[in-house]
Amino acid sequence: MRKKIVAGNWKMNKTYGEALLLGTEVADMVSREHHPELLTILAPAFPFLTAVSRATDGTDGISIAAQNCHHEISGAFTGEVSVPMIISCSAHYVIIGHSERRQYFNETDELLLAKLKTAIGHGLRPIFCIGETKAQRESGKHFETIQSQLEKTLFHFSAAQVAMTVIAYEPVWAIGTGLNATPEQVQEMHAFIRGLLLKKYGIAVAENVSILYGGSCNASNAATIFGCPDVDGGLIGGASLKTEDFAAIRKAMIAQLKTQSITQE
Ligand code: PGA
Repeated sequence: MRKKIVAGNWKMNKTYGEALLLGTEVADMVSREHHPELLTILAPAFPFLTAVSRATDGTDGISIAAQNCHHEISGAFTGEVSVPMIISCSAHYVIIGHSERRQYFNETDELLLAKLKTAIGHGLRPIFCIGETKAQRESGKHFETIQSQLEKTLFHFSAAQVAMTVIAYEPVWAIGTGLNATPEQVQEMHAFIRGLLLKKYGIAVAENVSILYGGSCNASNAATIFGCPDVDGGLIGGASLKTEDFAAIRKAMIAQLKTQSITQE
């Protein structure tokens, strides 16, 4: 069965000491409230990957992610960070295609495809973000936007390669705005994405790829969002920066896992 994931995208927040403290507190919380089917991922800024990785090392059920990577392996690219560098910091995941990268750093589908190739080729698992803008949703183009984002990038890979990827559906209009998508909108889009996976790769891939929701997910709406059958967790921005808020979101996912196992019995 696919993994449930609660991932904290810290973005450009926290200094060294603050990142270390948050990483340590989250690791304590995860070891106190562990669930074997829940993976917690922390994505600190590049300079703190190693520190946060060490602070969480030895805690079952936590992985570290980078927030971005360069598509080349090494070379004269001042200021950039490569996939092998990220792996050498003990990170196992990398966020690729976040809408802030697409929007503020002009990352195109072509570039994202190159980044995915490098990450997947080195065994670094992508958390691949897709999402429509407000204008695309309002003009009824949200499904075709998502389909096109996938066809130009992730759908270039084999079934085995896609199976190592996590998809994050993050409607751009819901990120950092406090406006989260309704459970109906979330479930409808997640089911659509899973349907595309099914059509292209078959049931095994469709059933095993975790699809996360991101965009103003917080302690008060997490339970409702995680209750949607095709939602496998969340990519959390603002609400991942405080241990208590992040803990409450994890609790909502653990409660959901417990309900599922009772229903299945
Ligand atoms: P948000 O960010 O939770 O602050 O809306 C989510 C994200 O950008 O991944």
